[in-house]
Amino acid sequence: MTDTPPTYTSAQVRALIDRHRTVRRYRPDPLPQEHLDTLLYAAQRAPTDATAQMYSFIRLTDPAVRAQVAELTANPHLASAPESFVVCMDVHRLALLLEHSGYTPGHFPGVAVHFGVGDAVLAGQSMLLAAELLGYQGCWIGGVLTHLDQLVELLALPEGVLPFAGLTIGLPDEHPAQRPRVQRKLVLHENRYREPELHELDEALRRMAPITARGDWAQTLARYFAVGGSMEQREQVLQRVLSRQQLSAHSQPESVG
Ligand SMILES: Cc1cc2nc3c(=O)[nH]c(=O)nc-3n(C[C@H](O)[C@H](O)[C@H](O)COP(=O)(O)O)c2cc1C
Repeated sequence: MTDTPPTYTSAQVRALIDRHRTVRRYRPDPLPQEHLDTLLYAAQRAPTDATAQMYSFIRLTDPAVRAQVAELTANPHLASAPESFVVCMDVHRLALLLEHSGYTPGHFPGVAVHFGVGDAVLAGQSMLLAAELLGYQGCWIGGVLTHLDQLVELLALPEGVLPFAGLTIGLPDEHPAQRPRVQRKLVLHENRYREPELHELDEALRRMAPITARGDWAQTLARYFAVGGSMEQREQVLQRVLSRQQLSAHSQPESVG
């Protein structure tokens, strides 16, 4: 066996990774077909659990649908970006394949969400990375959760299909500074989970402060994740839609598909 030399140096890889910025304002230039094909190719080449490919992309091309999705998610760039997608987990197609071949799909809603969302994220992020390598930028949009039930209806998503997030892509028309991250020590554990020390939490808050207007990351986090924050509202909607899409532990056993 011969060792294959690395194709890029660490510095080159970091330079490519450092291109990433979430961008929400795009130039109107459409993607050439060749680039769009490359993005979709990258999405489909992502690793996928059991090679089952438990995801679907809804490409938004109809201006009316784009406008409605933009409104439902409160992310206007879903209407204006050169490319807009809703990236979904999808075990519906899996059920169809099984039934078509004479098998009865099993009942595993929790596992379906676990692996389906994983597959969707991997495919979507692979697409975004390919886009960034081609000089584009993008934005993931978790705002799909805000009016998830209406979105499921609008996109005619069958049982077993659940939006994970929107994804917009295009040439950037804004150039934000690179956004900070917490220190590596907090996200990398060795062999067993290590509780952070209080001074490390202080440092994380200090590092992240510049991304907020008031320099207070905790306040921003609280708006989303504290008691009374927006995630509690999203939780109710998500539980309702999980049930409707037959992806809740309380769904009836007979149908994922
Ligand atoms: C799953 C996910 C959901 C997100 N949802 C939204 C969103 O709804 N609206 C938005 O403007 N940005 C959204 N973002 C973008 C994040 O705000 C952004 O990634 C973060 O601020 C870090 O900035 P950076 O990507 O430029 O490093 C989302 C990102 C992820 C990964």
